[in-house]
Amino acid sequence: MGYGKREEPKLFNDEQMRQFIADGYVIFKPNVPDNLHETIRQKLQFMVDEEFNYGNNVLPRVPEMDRILNSPEVRGALISVLGPGYIEHPHRFCHYIPPDATQRTLAQNCHQDSYTPLGRPRQHYPRFARIMYYPQDSPVEIGPTHAIPGTHYHRRLTDKDRQNAIPIAGNAGTVSITHFDIGHAAGINALRQPRHMIKFIYVRAEEPTKPSWDCQYHIWRNPKTYKTPHDLHLIWSHIWDWLCGKKDRYESFRASDPAVCELEDLHHDNLDKQLAAMHSIAATKNADAIPALIHKLNSAEQWTRLAAVYTLGAIGQPAVQPLVEALLDAAAHKDDDPVPQSWNEGAISMEDTAHALAAIGTPSLNALIGLLDNPGEWARINAAFALGEMDSLATQAIPALTRCLDDASHCVVRTATDALGSIRQNSEEFISVLERLLKVGRPEWQMPDRRDWTPYDQVRVNAAMVFTRLGKDATSAEALLLDTLSDPNGHVAAFALEALRRIGTPSAIDGVMEYLMTRRWDESIEKGRLF
Ligand SMILES: [Fe+2]
Repeated sequence: MGYGKREEPKLFNDEQMRQFIADGYVIFKPNVPDNLHETIRQKLQFMVDEEFNYGNNVLPRVPEMDRILNSPEVRGALISVLGPGYIEHPHRFCHYIPPDATQRTLAQNCHQDSYTPLGRPRQHYPRFARIMYYPQDSPVEIGPTHAIPGTHYHRRLTDKDRQNAIPIAGNAGTVSITHFDIGHAAGINALRQPRHMIKFIYVRAEEPTKPSWDCQYHIWRNPKTYKTPHDLHLIWSHIWDWLCGKKDRYESFRASDPAVCELEDLHHDNLDKQLAAMHSIAATKNADAIPALIHKLNSAEQWTRLAAVYTLGAIGQPAVQPLVEALLDAAAHKDDDPVPQSWNEGAISMEDTAHALAAIGTPSLNALIGLLDNPGEWARINAAFALGEMDSLATQAIPALTRCLDDASHCVVRTATDALGSIRQNSEEFISVLERLLKVGRPEWQMPDRRDWTPYDQVRVNAAMVFTRLGKDATSAEALLLDTLSDPNGHVAAFALEALRRIGTPSAIDGVMEYLMTRRWDESIEKGRLF
């Protein structure tokens, strides 16, 4: 198959989507010639032996991987999880374990990724996904990546989670798609052979309006088998309904007809009893349980705190004010919590109250818009995040979120920018402010932070991403985006390039071609052969 010709994507079926939602990952194998993987493996090995790890440039260095990423199976998986307009993120990386590497234990390796290079809030709805690919046979002995089922909704990994890591093993060519926030770990390479795993990141451009996979049955059912240790169908069905584009994200849950339990079971020693109690409360919308549910939020026990979020979401309007009060209380005391909750440029977890308010939807809107003016930075950040999680349901928040782009805090600016990119409506109201963010930074944003990036680098990345997500609605920003191709930060330029490609006017495409033609790479050139 040559360039420009693409086979029809192979979309996930319902069972694969159920697995993705419940466990957070699906493993599959693209149908490409077997020798392609060996070609890729050799080039990657040459790269690490003779050159250096090219980081984000690994794809142009080994462009054969494009055949994997554009295979019908990988495109089908990405469309299924992120929608047809998914965006390729400029961050990708070859995770290489050399034969003589000093290795830690599997449990020590377990982690959730941060959103490189500076932080972004973790999300429950699938907006970011990771593709992982092995070019060599990867049995468990070579140390393949392990995944920890169900942890993509966790605020942090527990010791118990670290015992549940499962190898994503397979022959050369095995690919997995994972929710970005899933707990995972490099395995232990007992074979002492070179081991490559290349990861690629993708981003959702638009909220779902209908299922983007081969959906035959619109009501959630638990997968036939799942590896997550508990039945969390309240959460899973909510995410499924969001992916189906339903306004009511509890439709599937109500159809599940959960058993009626006693309220006291909320405090039962048995975790499954607690979950069943919450399912019962969610079905009956029992507002008496609100204080006990709020008490479970942000707690160390990850499965029940997650269930409490979506039980409060199901209760709806009566939970709004108590959740707002709990959010303000947390914002006032955030430094007292042993789990880092505030903005730390690594793994940023929003308050569970923010997720619950987002799950409630429209009845939360006015309260969240009000919180955008709160003097507490953490309260404004969480409110902006929650509004973004509501997508176009939060359209009336656009004027207030646009004002947040002038907030003194770059964390608020970044979160509000992301939220506007998710809401994606009435873009004429905020495009000119985003253009200004791309052009003019503030003196206090110029100090390098994590990985040598400045806050202003990340502000520009987030702004450029919004233009990419807007597609043709960003046409008025074409001239600025053409200028932005010269941005010294490669991520910013990459998103501007993709934004221009999506705008698609002849002048935008001319700019795209000029940029790419300059960067054309002759693969036949090597040390001893310069012509
Ligand atoms: Fe990782």
